[in-house]
Amino acid sequence: MSLIARPSVPNDGVAWVTGASSGIGLALTRRLVSQGWRVAVTARRAEALAALAAESPGQIAVFAADVSNTEAMAAAANAIETQFGPIALAVLNAGVYLPVDSRRPDPALFRQTFEVNLMGVANALAPLVPAMLARGQGQVLIVSSATGFGGMPTAAAYGASKAALINMAETLRIELDPLGIRVQVATPGFVETPAQDDNGFPKPFMISPDRAARYMTDGMASKAVEISFPRRFTWMLKVLYALPKRVYIPMVRKQTGWDGPNPDWPK
Ligand SMILES: NC(=O)c1ccc[n+]([C@@H]2O[C@H](COP(=O)([O-])OP(=O)(O)OC[C@H]3O[C@@H](n4cnc5c(N)ncnc54)[C@H](OP(=O)(O)O)[C@@H]3O)[C@@H](O)[C@H]2O)c1
Repeated sequence: MSLIARPSVPNDGVAWVTGASSGIGLALTRRLVSQGWRVAVTARRAEALAALAAESPGQIAVFAADVSNTEAMAAAANAIETQFGPIALAVLNAGVYLPVDSRRPDPALFRQTFEVNLMGVANALAPLVPAMLARGQGQVLIVSSATGFGGMPTAAAYGASKAALINMAETLRIELDPLGIRVQVATPGFVETPAQDDNGFPKPFMISPDRAARYMTDGMASKAVEISFPRRFTWMLKVLYALPKRVYIPMVRKQTGWDGPNPDWPK
C-alpha cells in the first residue's frame, strides 16, 4: 500500500516529539535537529528537556506536559503553534511499560498504561489533526511496539495498549492520508533505554536509541506505512505470530523462560 500524502520537510514547519526526556525520544530529537528540524519537545521532566534544549540553542523548545492530561496537551500544541511554528511532523512517542503479574491483575496498572500510551496519543491528535488539516499537510508517527503484534509475558497491559495503537494508526492512515496527512506507526523491537530496566526476560537483537532514531527517520522519509525494526527480529516475530496460537503460545513460553514458575515475580 502506498501513501498519497508526502513526508514533511523542515521548510513545512516544526517537529513535535513527545517523550523526549529520555531514550528513543531524546535520540530522535537530536537526530531530527541534525537533519535541520526545529523540534518542540514534551515530557513531564522539564529539567531533562531543558538540558536537551541547551545542546542546540534555538533549535529545540521545551513544552513540558503530561500526555495523559487532555487540557495540558491541547495547551501544549497551541503554545507550540503560536510560539514556535506550525507543527508539520509529530512523533507521538511517550509511553510507559508497567509489567502486570497475570496472577494478580491490577486495574490501576491497566488504567495508567492506557492513559499514557493510548490516551496520550489521542490527546495529542485532538489539537494536531485539525491544525494539519487546515494546512492540508502533515505527518504523524505513532510509536507502538513489536509487543503489539501478539501476547508476551508481563505485557497484558502494555501489549494491549500497543496493539490498540497499531489498529488506531491503520484507521487514521485510511482516513487522513487522502487529506494530506501521512500517518505511520513504528513497531520497534528491543531498544536499550530506561524502559527496559525492569523488564525481566531476554532481549534479543537489542539496539541503541541512536540506531532506533535512525530507523525512524529513514522510515519517515520513505513510503513505509509501518516502520518495524530491527527488521530481522521483527520479521521473525511476525512469522511466529502467524503460527497457530496453540503452537505460538508454548513457543513464546519456552523462548522467554515462562515455561515454569518465574522467579522474578513477587511470590
Ligand atoms: N525501549 C524499548 O525496547 C521499546 C520497544 C518498543 C517500543 N518502545 C516505545 O518507545 C517509546 C519510548 O520508550 P523508551 O524506551 O525511549 O522509554 P523511556 O526512556 O522510558 O522514555 C519514555 C518517555 O516517555 C515519557 N513519558 C512517560 N510518561 C509520560 C507522561 N505521562 N507524560 C509525558 N511524557 C511521558 C518520559 O518522560 P517523563 O518521564 O519525563 O514524563 C520519557 O521521555 C515508548 O512508547 C515505548 O513503549 C520502546
